[in-house]
Amino acid sequence: MPLLPILRFPDPRLKIVAAAVENIDHTIRRLARDMAETMYEAPGIGLAATQVDVHKRLVVIDVSETRDQLLVLINPKLLESQGVQVCEEGCLSVPGIYDKVERAESVVVGYLDLDGKAQTIAADGMLAVCLQHEIEHLDGHVFVEHLSLLKQTRIKSKLLKQSRITA
Ligand code: NI
Repeated sequence: MPLLPILRFPDPRLKIVAAAVENIDHTIRRLARDMAETMYEAPGIGLAATQVDVHKRLVVIDVSETRDQLLVLINPKLLESQGVQVCEEGCLSVPGIYDKVERAESVVVGYLDLDGKAQTIAADGMLAVCLQHEIEHLDGHVFVEHLSLLKQTRIKSKLLKQSRITA
């Protein structure tokens, strides 16, 4: 299975708002498999379809230490959020950058699984952070947008400089 290329901030395609998945067909199942493989290989704990330039509402997540608790969420929606936590975040689209972001402490997310069955997941801690981070990608947002404008400018120029060097 092919590993998918991951878009890098500030690629404008990261700003595209993803469309709902209408049919969970073989294309979607293959996308979920390829995204999971890409996430594990990176390695990362979450990946949104937006990051691999597919603008459909699908995310894969695995926050387990054993790397065997894969979650595939189709059309995920934040149903409830409570409390506040500040966690250091990173992103496969913003390599090498980590910074503190304030998020809800606990969330309830509704989604469809790969069989098209409606599910809900209640999460706190790192999983809650990851769910919020990935759903944000589907809405065209990257975590650095939570940081100061000065930091965003620095991150942009650092990543653009890196891509010039590696290009
Ligand atoms: Ni991310």
